Amino acid sequence: MTTAILSALPEEQAGLLAALEQPQRVAHAGRAFWRGALGGKDVVLALSGIGKVAAATTATAAIERFGAARIVFTGVAGGVGDGVHVGDVVVARDYLQHDMDASPLFARWELPGYARTLVACDAHLSALLLEAANDCVTSAAGQFGTQCAAHGVHHGLVASGDRFIAAAAEAMHLRSALRNAGHDVLAVEMEGAAVAQVCLDYGLPFAAVRTISDRADDDAHGDFTLFVRTVASRYTAQIVQALVQKL
Ligand code: ADE
Repeated sequence: MTTAILSALPEEQAGLLAALEQPQRVAHAGRAFWRGALGGKDVVLALSGIGKVAAATTATAAIERFGAARIVFTGVAGGVGDGVHVGDVVVARDYLQHDMDASPLFARWELPGYARTLVACDAHLSALLLEAANDCVTSAAGQFGTQCAAHGVHHGLVASGDRFIAAAAEAMHLRSALRNAGHDVLAVEMEGAAVAQVCLDYGLPFAAVRTISDRADDDAHGDFTLFVRTVASRYTAQIVQALVQKL
């Protein structure tokens, strides 16, 4: 069974590529897909691209062309929930698209044609990912210096949209609007909900892990850049390698 591991950024993918056994690069749909194994388990690695459409194309290609039977997404995210700090890890329980708004035809954030707002991640795969993240955070405590030390692992709702949120006022507005509708969002990013929807369409398990690179506030851009350069690669690779051992 092939597991697709999609990363948003090359820095995140680098550690996985370095660990890939029998790597084989295949160009498809304007992307590089890497077939191989991690810990003896068949995988295909790819960069999702940035944004929902790019991620949906990558996920679809991974399924249709490379036979992926489940998809794990790794990346970084902006923390918006209380107590979600830079360096923490969020394992998604479910996803919504915060920029989906077909009102008044459908309720705000509802996915037209799906009769739902939230797309759930696979419970079993997410539980394994949560275990892997907890293992890594415990063993890595203190390893990344004070600014980026990973300390917390969270499990809950993540919101995706085609916007890099880099203003405290916008993050607060989004968070409180969602909360008023009963959706307590932990983090924002730009791809996961699209991949979750593709997996829903194909009936395949999906799970996602996001390391918090910034707080989606006025400092987000600087924090994000520093974090991706210094931490994302090592962290992603550790969590994914811990996960594949459990598959
Ligand atoms: N990914 C990481 N940080 C983000 C942010 N602040 N907004 C959207 N996507 C992100």
